[in-house]
Amino acid sequence: MARAMHENPLVPDSTTWPRIASAIRPDPDTERRIDDLLERLSLEEKVGQLIQGEIQYTSPDDVRRFGLGTVLSGGGSFPHGNREATNVDWLELAKAFHEASIQPDGDRTPIPVLWATDAVHGHNNVAGATIFPHAIGLGATRNPELVRQVARCTAVEMVSTGIRCTFSPSVSVARDYRWGRTYESFAQDPALVGTFARAMVEGLQQDADGRHLGEDTVIATLKHYVGDGGTHLGVDRGDTRLNERMLRDTHGVPYFSGLEAGAQIVMASFNAWNGMRVHGHRYLLTTVLKERIGFDGFVIGDWNGHSFVPGCSKDSCAPVFNAGVDVVMAPQDWRPLLSNTVADAESGAIPIERIDDAVRRVLRVKFRAGLFDADWPSQTIADTTSRFGSSEHLDVAAQAVRESLVLLKNRNGLLPLDGRSHVLVAGDAAENLEKQMGGWSMTWQGRSVATRDFPKATTVLDGIRSGVESAGGRLTVAPDGRCDEVPDVAIVVFGEEPYAEWHGDRDTLEFEADVKSWHATRLIPGICPTLNLLRSLKERGIPVVSIFLTGRPMYVNPELNASDAFVVGWWPGSAGDQVAAPLFRAAEGESRTDITGRLPFAWPAAIDGPDDDRWLLPFGFGLGLEDRCELSNDLPEPDVSERRGLRPLNIFSRGFSQPWETLLRCGEESRTVLPTSGHSPRSQVGAVRVDARDRLIQDDAWRITWTGESEASLLLGTGLSLNLDTYLDRGATLNFDALIDAPSSEDIRVEMEGTDGRSAGFSLSDRGGKLATGSWLSVQIPLADFACLGLDMSAIMYPIVLKSAESAVLWVSAIRIELPDDG
Ligand code: BGC
Ligand code: BGC
Repeated sequence: MARAMHENPLVPDSTTWPRIASAIRPDPDTERRIDDLLERLSLEEKVGQLIQGEIQYTSPDDVRRFGLGTVLSGGGSFPHGNREATNVDWLELAKAFHEASIQPDGDRTPIPVLWATDAVHGHNNVAGATIFPHAIGLGATRNPELVRQVARCTAVEMVSTGIRCTFSPSVSVARDYRWGRTYESFAQDPALVGTFARAMVEGLQQDADGRHLGEDTVIATLKHYVGDGGTHLGVDRGDTRLNERMLRDTHGVPYFSGLEAGAQIVMASFNAWNGMRVHGHRYLLTTVLKERIGFDGFVIGDWNGHSFVPGCSKDSCAPVFNAGVDVVMAPQDWRPLLSNTVADAESGAIPIERIDDAVRRVLRVKFRAGLFDADWPSQTIADTTSRFGSSEHLDVAAQAVRESLVLLKNRNGLLPLDGRSHVLVAGDAAENLEKQMGGWSMTWQGRSVATRDFPKATTVLDGIRSGVESAGGRLTVAPDGRCDEVPDVAIVVFGEEPYAEWHGDRDTLEFEADVKSWHATRLIPGICPTLNLLRSLKERGIPVVSIFLTGRPMYVNPELNASDAFVVGWWPGSAGDQVAAPLFRAAEGESRTDITGRLPFAWPAAIDGPDDDRWLLPFGFGLGLEDRCELSNDLPEPDVSERRGLRPLNIFSRGFSQPWETLLRCGEESRTVLPTSGHSPRSQVGAVRVDARDRLIQDDAWRITWTGESEASLLLGTGLSLNLDTYLDRGATLNFDALIDAPSSEDIRVEMEGTDGRSAGFSLSDRGGKLATGSWLSVQIPLADFACLGLDMSAIMYPIVLKSAESAVLWVSAIRIELPDDG
């Protein structure tokens, strides 16, 4: 057979990819309307359709003047920067964009603009929206019909804000849980991901009568094409090293179902395939996706993803258009990109046929979604207003949470509990919206989420309380587990901090790894808050139910050993109380809620992730409350610290890394800040301010500005006293890269501050040499030099303090404590 000869894994062969018939068929009438329109468009107008700006940097007036075809709002981006904007405020802005696009300047042709956003677990950037479990939790439900409803609710909430396009579903197949986007993946099994992709696309794109792309639906995007979940070591935006067949069978498969269901947009992925960035990959984007598979919607680039392709920058990039990206996402730099792309088309660097094809695809999607035909705002939109954040949607979220729970352990049938007992609730996640929403919630990273953002959201504690109160039991709430009486049972709720994208990448899968590894190197004696809490409860003979809220499976053998029952709640979203629903025995006459979720990913037995193929519990595992299959209490707990040895401490490298915190201080005032973009308001305390900036990748540098009104500092620490003695003994140095962008910035000081509040250090100009304006310089200061100033290295609170009393501007990046090479 000819096919067999072609199966040489090293020869690209697009015929091994299937041809897919989309549920949305090509329509000759639409194509004729596109022909007509295309003929009337100038080159500038055409290119305008191919460039996407972000709403913080793109106004309706820009759309009117420059004819942009699409805009996006990124994570943590709100109309006029107003986080409290209601769905009606969002609609106002959508209306302004729409009107600007259909009443363009001069003799431009009116073309309705399309607004897109990351509604990845509900309409998650909008205050008061219904937040559903993240994809990993939905995967655990094994219920595609429910996922279709989740998508339908999301679409309705989006429509009520006038936004008709979502960058969802993500159809990633996460392979290495160290990847910070594992929670955006439904499951490890490509076919199962495909099933959910189909359900999600149908729910988003079909109305209640099953009609495609009717007025109260939104356009779905499959992302990130292709191989995003397969990068080497799970590094976000990394390299996926697989032959073509494995790429297709693992990461390609979910696209087939999503495209068949009619998804209209595919987002190109940041990752490379065998060293070549997908954004610039003509074979994958054009030969495979468009020509072979037959995708006739448009390919969108990811956030500045074009700039990583050789020969490109943020504001100029012919190669990605030529490779097959149709719309380039250029959040801030859309303006120069627009003129450079026009110039590229004029010079022939991008063939005009390519431009026309890309524009045709964008227009096709707009026609299909009825954008040209809709009144604005239509009665349909008005009808959805009251359904935004409605109790009907919260019910769907609640069902999704209940069905997503996975029971890993239930020793001696501890669950369900008798609600009439004395229940202690401990742990830091029982009443913590950040820890139950996860990333992509109000803000990009999901940090600083509070009740004012999602007033209808309930917490896990709410659920426990109602279980206990309705049964007439007694409740004690003590996050640290302190309780004078001995309770009948303790429920400990704990989990990961929220994160998004590469900020969530980790080196190991060990829960509380950071604190544990420091403990191992004698940095922090005795700190492992959750594990210590679980063990101390056990030691007091109290039965322990653990509830683990997480974006990924983790190595938790020690925590499992210290628990009698263990429930994985993933990141549930708005209906946090439902996590507790099945914990209690049903009252007389009520029907019982069982636990039915199944692991969407095998559960790891080792800290290094799936590479070593040792599973504690297989894919599909999940106990019901009646099941009596038990994990033992002495799962192996290898002493990982020995193996790890002393490691360099990355304080701030590709982004913030937990558990480091950034503090600004001026006089008496000090505050923890999170300098990421994602449009959080600028962080300023008195005379000092910090903004995230891009150096090599997004947000990998901070720009610190001192106004000079009084002395002020930026400090980095963990909130705990660090013992750096071992590092001192080994000759470690404090390293960072620095750049000044004003010549006057000479008086900045680099110090360390002890637990006793005493700080000492050096002037940056002494230590950094002459900082040339505008170029990066490496600064390296031996810990021994700090010790010489009388600082006690065994009790350091802030291993780096940047301080100035004068006006100054400093960029810093790559802050770390390094060990000499010989070590
Ligand atoms: C945006 C996100 C985006 C990210 C890309 C952030 O600033 O808010 O929406 O995904 O940048 O790196
Ligand atoms: C992410 C995408 C997201 C986009 C827009 C990117 O950084 O990778 O998933 O859709 O930003 O926010």
